[in-house]
Amino acid sequence: MSLTVAIAADHGGYAMKEELIAWLSKQDYIISDRGAEKYIPDDDYPDYAREIGRFVAAGRAECGIIICGSGVGASVAANKIPGIRAGLCHDTYSAHQGVEHDDTNILCLGARVIGLELAKEVVAAFLMASFSGEDRHCRRLKKVQAIEDESLKGGGQPIQ
Ligand code: RB5
Repeated sequence: MSLTVAIAADHGGYAMKEELIAWLSKQDYIISDRGAEKYIPDDDYPDYAREIGRFVAAGRAECGIIICGSGVGASVAANKIPGIRAGLCHDTYSAHQGVEHDDTNILCLGARVIGLELAKEVVAAFLMASFSGEDRHCRRLKKVQAIEDESLKGGGQPIQ
């Protein structure tokens, strides 16, 4: 079955998003474009991070790709959404290892940092990877989940 991949970008990543959609659409993926629908020079990355993060967290896509100028703002914002594990990756090793070890479900890219051809290779590494399921990674993910649960409950133990 084809993987559903959500994709989003602010003005910093809009042009790269369009190129990646055209490229991915020729492959065996179902693409869900979560905006921006057109180039909006003063739009804000948190709006798209919220949209794609909620979409992926709700299970409407198996994974997502979000692009802003640096990828930093998008990753900060997307990681605020419960259930999202977003990684900013500009190399293929991090892109596949993030999925294999950390079960990342959103890839963040900075269109002002890497060019389109490298971005395609990073995206391919991300999309072709799968979580290893190894005990040590499951253990670590449970600890990550515990941090999220603690934060959702209001912060946990006071800082000593
Ligand atoms: C927008 O100009 C830029 O700040 C944004 O795309 C992103 O790079 C933020 O991290």
